[in-house]
Amino acid sequence: MRVGFIGFGEVAYTLASRLREEGVDVVTSLEGRSTRTVKLAGEAGVGDVPPEEVYSADIVISAVTPAVAVEAAKEAGEHVRGVFVDMNNIAPGTVRKASSFIKNGRFADAAIMGSVRRKGAGVLIIAAGEGAEDFMKLNRYGLNIEVRGQRPGDASAIKMLRSSYTKGVSALIWETLLSAHIMGLEEDVIEVFEYTEGADFRQSTISRLRSSIIHAGRRYEEMKEVQSMLEEVIEPAMPSCTMRVFERLNEIDVPSDADYRNLLRLAAGKYQPPRDDADINR
Ligand SMILES: NC(=O)c1ccc[n+]([C@@H]2O[C@H](COP(=O)([O-])OP(=O)(O)OC[C@H]3O[C@@H](n4cnc5c(N)ncnc54)[C@H](OP(=O)(O)O)[C@@H]3O)[C@@H](O)[C@H]2O)c1
Repeated sequence: MRVGFIGFGEVAYTLASRLREEGVDVVTSLEGRSTRTVKLAGEAGVGDVPPEEVYSADIVISAVTPAVAVEAAKEAGEHVRGVFVDMNNIAPGTVRKASSFIKNGRFADAAIMGSVRRKGAGVLIIAAGEGAEDFMKLNRYGLNIEVRGQRPGDASAIKMLRSSYTKGVSALIWETLLSAHIMGLEEDVIEVFEYTEGADFRQSTISRLRSSIIHAGRRYEEMKEVQSMLEEVIEPAMPSCTMRVFERLNEIDVPSDADYRNLLRLAAGKYQPPRDDADINR
């Protein structure tokens, strides 16, 4: 079994290292790549070959950056005879565009459910499309792939629907806890929620509060993609509200050592309701 990686950053390094441990032949092309990429490939012990050799591997995995995902599929397109897996964070419509270039091979759309840095090579990867079953054979070599959905774009759609839910919950938690904080009821609210929502509520909430504010700009951009996807099937009400919360959070400078109470204090100023009569009568 030979696996070729297009792009060799964090994702490729993590997956390739595990595949090599399990005896898989892994290659990439380092032509024109940065010193970081060359270093990662060297550390993983992955061979540097011409691009055409990467494209002719049994399974070709594109793990570049979202902006160049379609271009990478286009360049590989006519050479691929095996399976081409697009692992980039792109919207279902973009996945379908990438798939259109894989004329002679089988295409699979793959979505990594979480972060490879935190979860390692065992991170759940969901896959859809004609090549998904063949891609799943890499489970024999230490990966954790599940086939879900039928068409290219389905895996990406599932990931975006999850994103719609988790980001919506984070925005709701922000407004709920911030109001509780301003009312002086924050600790009582958390304790009551621990009773109704489960003992891990406090820990998961603190983590959501922190990551939402730290990554507010990126979350806002990701919600725009979610909104466009939902608009293809419903008239969504939630994305614009969720985006508004992240937009406000993005305006706050967060000291790296701030605990969640500091975060609520910092945010409180941004959310105070208008006080003058004109605003009250609105
Ligand atoms: N990291 C995660 O946990 C995670 C989770 C979910 C999804 N993803 C998705 O997986 C993909 C890879 O993520 P990553 O974290 O591994 O990214 P990364 O560390 O930034 O690595 C990107 C790699 O792609 C290479 N590259 C860029 N443009 C290229 C091109 N035109 N042709 C060939 N190689 C090119 C880069 O090379 P240079 O260094 O030379 O630019 C680098 O080796 C992204 O699309 C991301 O959205 C990542």
